[in-house]
Amino acid sequence: MKRLAVFASGTGSNFLALVEAVKEGRLNASIHLLVCDRPGAPVIEKAKHAGIETFVAAPKTFHSKADYEGSILKVLAEKGIDVLILAGYMRLVGSTLLEAYPSKIINIHPSLLPEFTGLDAIKRAYESGTKKTGVTVHLVDEGMDTGPVLAQETLPILSDETLEELETRMHALEHELFPRAIQAFLEPSL
Ligand code: GRF
Repeated sequence: MKRLAVFASGTGSNFLALVEAVKEGRLNASIHLLVCDRPGAPVIEKAKHAGIETFVAAPKTFHSKADYEGSILKVLAEKGIDVLILAGYMRLVGSTLLEAYPSKIINIHPSLLPEFTGLDAIKRAYESGTKKTGVTVHLVDEGMDTGPVLAQETLPILSDETLEELETRMHALEHELFPRAIQAFLEPSL
């Protein structure tokens, strides 16, 4: 069974969805670590509550990105982590982690990539007047929300819905798609 580390910076609803999916057997893997770059982020308490170890480190307390990622790499190695899952990790992954985990870092992004990369993707899609948006799960490379797509699902934007309503539906789709896409990546069916 593959050993996962989840990286997150904020609320952690996708982190929790993954924890639930493991518990319910929809994701055949084990989560051994939460890596968080924002001390005080709500996801840290969620991990503690779920009994998952946390590694919290603010990048600005390190001399360089390589030092920051090197400190993470040490913990990943100690725990024998196979695959890294970015679940709202608001930071570009650098060469230290990319070289240590080639094609083994997975991200979720709330848009139909390559549309609306970066921050506030749901809001920007909503305000653009497009009739549809969606969720993408992809492998991470050195770019922002680039890298090969593993799974993508479309969500129509309803003519009478508010941004908040769309956000709620988007997060529900994320929580369902993310574990399913990771499971398919780990154990592709023939
Ligand atoms: C999600 O919308 C995810 O797609 C994006 O950041 C958000 C994180 O939300 N990358 P949460 O912390 O999982 O609730």
